[in-house]
Amino acid sequence: MLKPMSYRVYCTSCRKASANVLDFQCSSCGKPLDLRRDFSFEPKLVQLKNYSAWRYAGFFPHVDAKDIITLGEGWTPLVKLNDSLFFKLDCLNPTGSFKDRGSTTLISAIHKQVKRQGGYVAEDSSGNAGASIAAYSARAQLKARIYVPENVSGPKFNQIRSYGMPVVKVAGSRSQVAEKAQQSEKGKFYVGHIFHPFFRDGIRTLAYEIAEQFAWKTPERVYLPVSAGTLLLGVISGFRHLADSGTIKTVPTIVACQTRQVSPLYHRLRKLKYKAPKKVTSLADALVSTNPPLLDLMTRELQEICGDVEIVDENEILDVFTELAHKGFFVEPSSAVAYAAYQKQLRNKEVSEADKAVIVLTGHGLKATLQPAS
Ligand SMILES: Cc1ncc(COP(=O)(O)O)c(C=O)c1O
Ligand SMILES: [Zn+2]
Repeated sequence: MLKPMSYRVYCTSCRKASANVLDFQCSSCGKPLDLRRDFSFEPKLVQLKNYSAWRYAGFFPHVDAKDIITLGEGWTPLVKLNDSLFFKLDCLNPTGSFKDRGSTTLISAIHKQVKRQGGYVAEDSSGNAGASIAAYSARAQLKARIYVPENVSGPKFNQIRSYGMPVVKVAGSRSQVAEKAQQSEKGKFYVGHIFHPFFRDGIRTLAYEIAEQFAWKTPERVYLPVSAGTLLLGVISGFRHLADSGTIKTVPTIVACQTRQVSPLYHRLRKLKYKAPKKVTSLADALVSTNPPLLDLMTRELQEICGDVEIVDENEILDVFTELAHKGFFVEPSSAVAYAAYQKQLRNKEVSEADKAVIVLTGHGLKATLQPAS
Protein backbone atom coordinates (compact mmCIF):
# COMPACT_ATOMS: atom_id res chain seq x y z
CA MET A 1 0.00 0.00 0.00
CA LEU A 2 1.10 3.55 -0.65
CA LYS A 3 1.52 5.99 2.20
CA PRO A 4 -1.56 8.23 2.31
CA MET A 5 -1.49 11.80 1.01
CA SER A 6 2.20 12.47 0.68
CA TYR A 7 2.52 10.48 -2.52
CA ARG A 8 -0.43 9.60 -4.69
CA VAL A 9 -0.78 7.72 -7.93
CA TYR A 10 -3.61 8.92 -10.15
CA CYS A 11 -4.88 8.55 -13.70
CA THR A 12 -3.67 11.22 -16.15
CA SER A 13 -7.06 11.11 -17.89
CA CYS A 14 -9.97 10.37 -15.47
CA ARG A 15 -7.97 11.35 -12.32
CA LYS A 16 -8.99 8.17 -10.47
CA ALA A 17 -6.56 7.35 -7.65
CA SER A 18 -4.73 4.02 -7.62
CA ALA A 19 -3.87 2.33 -4.34
CA ASN A 20 -2.12 -0.76 -5.69
CA VAL A 21 1.60 -0.42 -6.40
CA LEU A 22 1.26 -3.13 -9.05
CA ASP A 23 -1.16 -1.09 -11.19
CA PHE A 24 0.62 -0.15 -14.41
CA GLN A 25 -2.35 1.68 -15.91
CA CYS A 26 -5.67 3.14 -14.73
CA SER A 27 -7.97 0.34 -13.60
CA SER A 28 -11.00 2.31 -14.91
CA CYS A 29 -9.98 3.75 -18.27
CA GLY A 30 -6.61 2.12 -19.06
CA LYS A 31 -4.80 5.45 -19.53
CA PRO A 32 -1.30 6.12 -18.07
CA LEU A 33 -0.85 6.74 -14.37
CA ASP A 34 1.25 9.50 -12.86
CA LEU A 35 2.37 10.58 -9.41
CA ARG A 36 1.51 13.59 -7.35
CA ARG A 37 3.74 14.69 -4.49
CA ASP A 38 2.58 16.86 -1.63
CA PHE A 39 6.02 17.68 -0.26
CA SER A 40 8.82 20.05 -1.18
CA PHE A 41 12.38 19.30 -2.17
CA GLU A 42 14.75 20.47 0.54
CA PRO A 43 18.52 20.36 -0.11
CA LYS A 44 19.18 19.84 3.60
CA LEU A 45 17.44 16.45 3.40
CA VAL A 46 19.92 15.14 0.81
CA GLN A 47 22.03 12.39 2.40
CA LEU A 48 25.42 13.80 1.42
CA LYS A 49 27.38 10.69 2.38
CA ASN A 50 25.26 8.40 0.23
CA TYR A 51 26.95 8.34 -3.19
CA SER A 52 24.03 6.83 -5.09
CA ALA A 53 20.60 7.93 -6.31
CA TRP A 54 19.34 7.00 -2.83
CA ARG A 55 20.95 10.14 -1.41
CA TYR A 56 17.45 11.46 -2.30
CA ALA A 57 15.63 8.68 -0.41
CA GLY A 58 13.75 11.30 1.62
CA PHE A 59 11.88 12.26 -1.55
CA PHE A 60 10.67 8.70 -2.18
CA PRO A 61 8.51 8.26 0.93
CA HIS A 62 6.66 5.19 -0.37
CA VAL A 63 9.83 3.06 -0.22
CA ASP A 64 10.91 1.87 3.23
CA ALA A 65 14.69 1.97 3.73
CA LYS A 66 14.72 -1.77 4.49
CA ASP A 67 13.03 -2.56 1.15
CA ILE A 68 15.51 -0.71 -1.05
CA ILE A 69 17.02 -2.86 -3.80
CA THR A 70 20.18 -1.13 -4.98
CA LEU A 71 23.23 -1.88 -7.09
CA GLY A 72 24.79 1.52 -6.36
CA GLU A 73 23.06 3.36 -9.23
CA GLY A 74 23.13 7.12 -9.71
CA TRP A 75 25.45 9.94 -8.58
CA THR A 76 27.14 9.55 -11.95
CA PRO A 77 29.96 11.90 -13.01
CA LEU A 78 29.28 15.24 -14.65
CA VAL A 79 32.28 15.89 -16.87
CA LYS A 80 33.14 19.41 -17.98
CA LEU A 81 34.26 19.67 -21.62
CA ASN A 82 34.57 23.45 -21.65
CA ASP A 83 32.99 26.43 -19.85
CA SER A 84 29.57 25.72 -21.34
CA LEU A 85 29.46 22.00 -22.23
CA PHE A 86 28.99 19.12 -19.78
CA PHE A 87 28.44 15.38 -20.23
CA LYS A 88 26.40 13.50 -17.63
CA LEU A 89 27.73 9.95 -17.71
CA ASP A 90 24.61 7.93 -17.02
CA CYS A 91 26.12 5.16 -19.14
CA LEU A 92 28.20 4.38 -16.03
CA ASN A 93 25.22 3.04 -14.10
CA PRO A 94 25.47 -0.60 -12.89
CA THR A 95 23.86 -2.16 -15.98
CA GLY A 96 25.28 0.44 -18.35
CA SER A 97 22.28 2.74 -18.82
CA PHE A 98 20.13 5.38 -17.11
CA LYS A 99 17.35 2.80 -16.75
CA ASP A 100 18.81 1.69 -13.41
CA ARG A 101 17.37 4.83 -11.81
CA GLY A 102 13.90 3.60 -12.70
CA SER A 103 14.50 -0.06 -11.92
CA THR A 104 15.77 0.63 -8.42
CA THR A 105 12.63 2.56 -7.43
CA LEU A 106 10.24 0.20 -9.22
CA ILE A 107 11.68 -3.06 -7.92
CA SER A 108 12.15 -1.61 -4.41
CA ALA A 109 8.46 -0.65 -4.34
CA ILE A 110 7.03 -3.93 -5.60
CA HIS A 111 9.31 -6.88 -4.90
CA LYS A 112 7.75 -7.91 -1.60
CA GLN A 113 4.20 -7.88 -2.94
CA VAL A 114 5.08 -9.91 -6.04
CA LYS A 115 6.91 -12.47 -3.91
CA ARG A 116 4.05 -12.67 -1.40
CA GLN A 117 1.73 -13.50 -4.29
CA GLY A 118 4.16 -16.13 -5.58
CA GLY A 119 4.49 -14.44 -8.97
CA TYR A 120 7.07 -13.07 -11.37
CA VAL A 121 7.43 -9.73 -13.15
CA ALA A 122 7.19 -9.29 -16.92
CA GLU A 123 8.84 -6.47 -18.81
CA ASP A 124 9.15 -5.54 -22.49
CA SER A 125 12.10 -3.57 -23.77
CA SER A 126 14.35 -2.84 -26.74
CA GLY A 127 17.13 -4.16 -24.50
CA ASN A 128 18.41 -1.73 -21.89
CA ALA A 129 15.37 -1.58 -19.63
CA GLY A 130 15.09 -5.36 -19.89
CA ALA A 131 18.70 -5.77 -18.77
CA SER A 132 18.13 -3.35 -15.93
CA ILE A 133 14.89 -4.93 -14.66
CA ALA A 134 16.56 -8.35 -14.93
CA ALA A 135 19.53 -7.17 -12.83
CA TYR A 136 17.42 -5.56 -10.10
CA SER A 137 15.12 -8.59 -10.02
CA ALA A 138 18.18 -10.80 -9.55
CA ARG A 139 19.36 -8.55 -6.72
CA ALA A 140 15.90 -8.83 -5.11
CA GLN A 141 15.77 -12.59 -5.74
CA LEU A 142 12.64 -12.01 -7.72
CA LYS A 143 11.74 -13.90 -10.89
CA ALA A 144 11.46 -11.88 -14.10
CA ARG A 145 10.64 -12.63 -17.73
CA ILE A 146 11.87 -10.15 -20.33
CA TYR A 147 10.25 -9.72 -23.78
CA VAL A 148 12.46 -8.19 -26.48
CA PRO A 149 12.24 -7.54 -30.23
CA GLU A 150 13.58 -10.28 -32.46
CA ASN A 151 16.45 -8.03 -33.63
CA VAL A 152 17.63 -7.09 -30.11
CA SER A 153 21.33 -6.24 -30.05
CA GLY A 154 23.52 -9.24 -29.19
CA PRO A 155 25.27 -7.70 -26.16
CA LYS A 156 21.93 -6.64 -24.61
CA PHE A 157 20.43 -10.09 -25.17
CA ASN A 158 23.46 -11.75 -23.55
CA GLN A 159 23.35 -9.30 -20.66
CA ILE A 160 19.71 -10.11 -19.82
CA ARG A 161 20.38 -13.85 -20.03
CA SER A 162 23.46 -13.53 -17.86
CA TYR A 163 21.33 -12.18 -15.01
CA GLY A 164 19.58 -15.55 -15.15
CA MET A 165 16.24 -14.37 -16.49
CA PRO A 166 14.35 -15.98 -19.37
CA VAL A 167 14.20 -13.79 -22.48
CA VAL A 168 11.37 -14.09 -25.00
CA LYS A 169 12.11 -12.79 -28.50
CA VAL A 170 9.01 -11.45 -30.27
CA ALA A 171 8.71 -10.90 -34.01
CA GLY A 172 7.11 -7.70 -35.33
CA SER A 173 7.00 -4.12 -34.14
CA ARG A 174 7.90 -2.75 -30.72
CA SER A 175 4.15 -2.50 -29.94
CA GLN A 176 3.74 -6.22 -30.67
CA VAL A 177 6.49 -6.99 -28.15
CA ALA A 178 4.55 -4.96 -25.55
CA GLU A 179 1.29 -6.75 -26.36
CA LYS A 180 2.93 -10.14 -25.87
CA ALA A 181 4.41 -9.10 -22.53
CA GLN A 182 1.02 -7.85 -21.35
CA GLN A 183 -0.84 -11.06 -22.23
CA SER A 184 -2.17 -12.38 -18.98
CA GLU A 185 -0.66 -15.60 -17.66
CA LYS A 186 -0.76 -17.34 -14.30
CA GLY A 187 1.57 -15.65 -11.80
CA LYS A 188 2.60 -12.90 -14.23
CA PHE A 189 2.72 -9.28 -13.05
CA TYR A 190 3.32 -6.96 -15.95
CA VAL A 191 5.45 -4.02 -14.80
CA GLY A 192 6.47 -2.59 -18.19
CA HIS A 193 8.81 0.32 -17.55
CA ILE A 194 7.09 2.52 -20.11
CA PHE A 195 3.80 2.37 -18.24
CA HIS A 196 4.66 1.83 -14.63
CA PRO A 197 4.75 5.22 -12.87
CA PHE A 198 7.27 4.06 -10.27
CA PHE A 199 9.87 3.41 -12.96
CA ARG A 200 9.50 6.84 -14.55
CA ASP A 201 9.48 8.42 -11.12
CA GLY A 202 12.94 7.10 -10.22
CA ILE A 203 14.40 9.04 -13.14
CA ARG A 204 13.74 12.34 -11.41
CA THR A 205 16.96 11.61 -9.45
CA LEU A 206 18.81 12.49 -12.67
CA ALA A 207 17.44 16.04 -12.53
CA TYR A 208 18.24 16.32 -8.81
CA GLU A 209 21.83 15.24 -9.51
CA ILE A 210 22.38 17.68 -12.36
CA ALA A 211 21.01 20.51 -10.22
CA GLU A 212 23.08 19.50 -7.19
CA GLN A 213 26.25 19.10 -9.30
CA PHE A 214 25.67 22.69 -10.48
CA ALA A 215 25.27 23.81 -6.84
CA TRP A 216 21.49 24.28 -7.41
CA LYS A 217 22.06 26.86 -10.16
CA THR A 218 21.18 24.65 -13.17
CA PRO A 219 22.41 24.90 -16.75
CA GLU A 220 20.43 26.67 -19.49
CA ARG A 221 19.80 23.53 -21.57
CA VAL A 222 19.61 19.75 -21.05
CA TYR A 223 19.70 17.42 -24.09
CA LEU A 224 18.07 13.97 -23.85
CA PRO A 225 17.56 11.18 -26.40
CA VAL A 226 13.84 10.39 -26.48
CA SER A 227 11.93 7.29 -27.53
CA ALA A 228 9.17 6.03 -25.19
CA GLY A 229 9.55 9.13 -23.04
CA THR A 230 10.38 7.76 -19.58
CA LEU A 231 13.69 9.64 -19.48
CA LEU A 232 12.10 12.87 -20.65
CA LEU A 233 9.13 12.70 -18.28
CA GLY A 234 11.25 11.68 -15.31
CA VAL A 235 13.74 14.51 -15.86
CA ILE A 236 10.97 17.08 -16.32
CA SER A 237 9.27 15.84 -13.15
CA GLY A 238 12.50 16.26 -11.17
CA PHE A 239 13.26 19.77 -12.42
CA ARG A 240 9.66 20.87 -11.89
CA HIS A 241 9.80 19.55 -8.33
CA LEU A 242 12.98 21.57 -7.70
CA ALA A 243 11.52 24.73 -9.26
CA ASP A 244 8.16 24.40 -7.45
CA SER A 245 10.07 23.98 -4.18
CA GLY A 246 12.17 27.11 -4.84
CA THR A 247 15.42 25.09 -4.86
CA ILE A 248 16.21 26.25 -8.41
CA LYS A 249 14.98 29.44 -10.07
CA THR A 250 13.69 27.96 -13.32
CA VAL A 251 13.44 24.67 -15.15
CA PRO A 252 16.21 24.51 -17.80
CA THR A 253 15.20 24.24 -21.45
CA ILE A 254 14.84 20.52 -21.94
CA VAL A 255 15.59 19.43 -25.51
CA ALA A 256 13.95 16.16 -26.63
CA CYS A 257 16.26 14.68 -29.28
CA GLN A 258 15.00 12.10 -31.78
CA THR A 259 16.15 10.33 -34.92
CA ARG A 260 14.46 11.31 -38.19
CA GLN A 261 13.08 7.76 -38.47
CA VAL A 262 11.57 7.72 -34.97
CA SER A 263 10.38 11.26 -34.31
CA PRO A 264 6.68 11.29 -33.34
CA LEU A 265 7.24 13.84 -30.55
CA TYR A 266 9.23 16.19 -32.78
CA HIS A 267 6.50 16.10 -35.42
CA ARG A 268 3.68 16.57 -32.88
CA LEU A 269 5.38 19.61 -31.29
CA ARG A 270 6.17 21.16 -34.66
CA LYS A 271 2.60 20.39 -35.85
CA LEU A 272 3.93 18.28 -38.74
CA LYS A 273 2.59 14.98 -40.01
CA TYR A 274 4.67 11.98 -38.93
CA LYS A 275 4.83 8.83 -41.04
CA ALA A 276 6.57 6.00 -39.23
CA PRO A 277 8.81 3.75 -41.37
CA LYS A 278 7.60 0.17 -41.87
CA LYS A 279 10.81 -1.05 -40.27
CA VAL A 280 13.14 1.00 -38.07
CA THR A 281 16.71 0.60 -39.30
CA SER A 282 18.35 3.46 -37.38
CA LEU A 283 21.80 3.06 -35.81
CA ALA A 284 20.10 4.29 -32.64
CA ASP A 285 18.67 0.87 -31.82
CA ALA A 286 17.29 1.92 -28.42
CA LEU A 287 15.12 4.66 -29.94
CA VAL A 288 12.40 2.60 -31.61
CA SER A 289 9.03 3.78 -30.23
CA THR A 290 7.29 5.02 -33.38
CA ASN A 291 3.93 5.08 -31.59
CA PRO A 292 4.74 5.77 -27.92
CA PRO A 293 1.85 5.30 -25.48
CA LEU A 294 3.01 8.34 -23.48
CA LEU A 295 3.04 10.73 -26.46
CA ASP A 296 0.16 12.90 -25.17
CA LEU A 297 1.78 13.18 -21.75
CA MET A 298 5.19 14.02 -23.25
CA THR A 299 3.66 16.69 -25.48
CA ARG A 300 1.76 18.28 -22.61
CA GLU A 301 4.70 18.27 -20.21
CA LEU A 302 7.21 19.58 -22.75
CA GLN A 303 4.84 22.37 -23.79
CA GLU A 304 4.17 23.34 -20.17
CA ILE A 305 7.87 23.87 -19.50
CA CYS A 306 8.48 25.53 -22.93
CA GLY A 307 10.90 22.75 -23.90
CA ASP A 308 12.41 22.19 -27.33
CA VAL A 309 12.68 19.34 -29.85
CA GLU A 310 15.34 18.41 -32.40
CA ILE A 311 15.90 15.62 -34.93
CA VAL A 312 19.09 14.23 -36.42
CA ASP A 313 19.94 12.11 -39.45
CA GLU A 314 21.79 8.80 -39.56
CA ASN A 315 25.04 10.34 -40.87
CA GLU A 316 25.03 12.80 -37.93
CA ILE A 317 24.57 9.93 -35.45
CA LEU A 318 27.47 7.99 -36.95
CA ASP A 319 29.77 11.03 -37.06
CA VAL A 320 29.00 12.01 -33.48
CA PHE A 321 29.28 8.43 -32.17
CA THR A 322 32.80 8.39 -33.67
CA GLU A 323 33.63 11.88 -32.43
CA LEU A 324 32.54 11.02 -28.89
CA ALA A 325 34.63 7.84 -28.89
CA HIS A 326 37.62 9.80 -30.22
CA LYS A 327 37.20 12.11 -27.22
CA GLY A 328 37.20 9.03 -24.93
CA PHE A 329 33.43 8.70 -24.44
CA PHE A 330 32.33 5.29 -25.71
CA VAL A 331 28.53 5.38 -25.75
CA GLU A 332 25.64 3.80 -27.61
CA PRO A 333 24.67 5.41 -30.93
CA SER A 334 21.32 6.17 -29.24
CA SER A 335 23.14 8.39 -26.74
CA ALA A 336 25.10 10.10 -29.53
CA VAL A 337 21.73 11.41 -30.78
CA ALA A 338 21.62 13.98 -27.95
CA TYR A 339 25.07 15.37 -28.69
CA ALA A 340 24.36 15.37 -32.43
CA ALA A 341 21.22 17.43 -31.73
CA TYR A 342 23.23 19.91 -29.65
CA GLN A 343 25.77 20.32 -32.44
CA LYS A 344 23.00 20.84 -34.98
CA GLN A 345 21.45 23.57 -32.82
CA LEU A 346 24.87 25.23 -32.43
CA ARG A 347 25.35 25.16 -36.23
CA ASN A 348 21.87 26.60 -36.77
CA LYS A 349 22.47 29.23 -34.06
CA GLU A 350 19.45 27.97 -32.10
CA VAL A 351 21.67 27.82 -29.05
CA SER A 352 24.42 30.17 -28.01
CA GLU A 353 27.89 28.81 -27.31
CA ALA A 354 27.77 30.70 -24.04
CA ASP A 355 24.71 28.80 -22.77
CA LYS A 356 25.59 26.05 -20.36
CA ALA A 357 24.37 22.74 -21.81
CA VAL A 358 24.29 19.23 -20.35
CA ILE A 359 24.22 16.26 -22.70
CA VAL A 360 22.99 13.12 -20.98
CA LEU A 361 24.99 10.12 -22.24
CA THR A 362 22.46 7.40 -21.53
CA GLY A 363 23.95 4.06 -22.58
CA HIS A 364 27.38 2.40 -22.66
CA GLY A 365 29.16 1.72 -25.96
CA LEU A 366 29.83 -1.91 -25.01
CA LYS A 367 26.11 -2.57 -25.55
CA ALA A 368 26.33 -1.60 -29.21
CA THR A 369 27.39 -3.66 -32.22
CA LEU A 370 28.49 -0.73 -34.37
CA GLN A 371 32.03 -1.21 -35.73
CA PRO A 372 34.47 1.70 -36.02
CA ALA A 373 34.72 3.07 -39.57
CA SER A 374 38.44 2.31 -39.85
C1 LIG B 1 20.53 4.25 -24.20
C2 LIG B 1 19.14 4.82 -24.26
N1 LIG B 1 19.00 6.14 -24.40
C3 LIG B 1 17.78 6.72 -24.47
C4 LIG B 1 16.62 5.96 -24.42
C5 LIG B 1 15.30 6.64 -24.53
O1 LIG B 1 14.57 6.55 -23.35
P1 LIG B 1 12.99 6.59 -23.35
O2 LIG B 1 12.51 5.33 -24.04
O3 LIG B 1 12.63 6.65 -21.93
O4 LIG B 1 12.58 7.80 -24.12
C6 LIG B 1 16.72 4.57 -24.27
C7 LIG B 1 15.51 3.73 -24.22
O5 LIG B 1 15.54 2.53 -24.39
C8 LIG B 1 18.01 3.99 -24.17
O6 LIG B 1 18.16 2.67 -23.99
ZN1 LIG C 1 -8.50 6.64 -15.78
